[in-house]
Amino acid sequence: MRFRIGFDPDDRKKVHDYWDEIFTTQQWTEGKFTAMFEEKWAAWNGLPAHSFGSWSGAALTALEFFKVKGKIVLCPSNTFMATPLSVVKAGARVEFVDCNREDLCLSFEDLKRKVERFKPAAVWVVHIGGHIAFEIEEISRFCKERRIVLLEDCAHAHGASWNGRKPGSWGEAGIYSFYATKTITTGEGGILVSANKDLQEFSKQSRNYGKPDFTVEGLNYRINEFAAALGVVQVDRMADIVAWKKAYAEKHLDPKFPNRVKFPEGMISGYYKYIIFDPVEKSTGKVYDQPCHKIMNRDDELPNTDWVAKNHWCVPLYYKGE
Ligand SMILES: Cc1ncc(COP(=O)(O)O)c(C=O)c1O
Repeated sequence: MRFRIGFDPDDRKKVHDYWDEIFTTQQWTEGKFTAMFEEKWAAWNGLPAHSFGSWSGAALTALEFFKVKGKIVLCPSNTFMATPLSVVKAGARVEFVDCNREDLCLSFEDLKRKVERFKPAAVWVVHIGGHIAFEIEEISRFCKERRIVLLEDCAHAHGASWNGRKPGSWGEAGIYSFYATKTITTGEGGILVSANKDLQEFSKQSRNYGKPDFTVEGLNYRINEFAAALGVVQVDRMADIVAWKKAYAEKHLDPKFPNRVKFPEGMISGYYKYIIFDPVEKSTGKVYDQPCHKIMNRDDELPNTDWVAKNHWCVPLYYKGE
């Protein structure tokens, strides 16, 4: 199966029609399609949604809103460098937490130790591979009790759910990426979901240079109308993409790969990746082969993270791939 963007060729006409409309109206940014994209995303996610030009802009917005500057933010090491770098760029200090071998996501056990040691202001949890972190309930309860801000990096988690509950709803905010390799994509883009009304208001200003009153020191993190129109079409297609990947995985891959990430009862993965723990000839490689603490030359002891980096592989699984 060769890499294929999660886009149904049947949707081309719809995208072209929307783009024609944008050419006609001359509204290339801050228009109808940005609003529609957010409404549709919010309807799927069950939370108000604010679009951005990338995951990064949304992440910086959330970190700034929660005033982490000068404080400590915990982050898994088994993630893309975007997650720890968002902390650095927000002016905070990043400290790393180990992951579990079963789900590749933040370890609750190590989180408790690191909270005790570092007294963080915030914690990033990353839903690696398209499923939801198996310990998200415990992590969320623990952070709430200690008034630690929990942020969910949902860059891989499009279309996922656990007993109907969607990523981004356990923390104070969830942030998705629509980068070109993701389950659904707008080429470049991001979205922030949150029930926090003040953060919603802050997001609108942060992505737009603090307009209208410039009390927020925002920059340009806006999405454009062409990408947003693609997003509108993609959100409508998301259930189909995830259902296709799930059916393919269950029929063709699960019987072949018993030594894989196995989801708990009631969890549906978005299947950004299909992760196994044995080497396989036809593989797309690792989700991440270098843990962030190694890239950043830290000397943390994170045994599960090191184990995961060495012992997992991804089997190709692309929407309508062959
Ligand atoms: C876990 C994770 N977080 C953040 C990002 C950053 O997203 P973006 O490229 O939209 O800024 C990515 C991937 O691109 C990612 O995989």
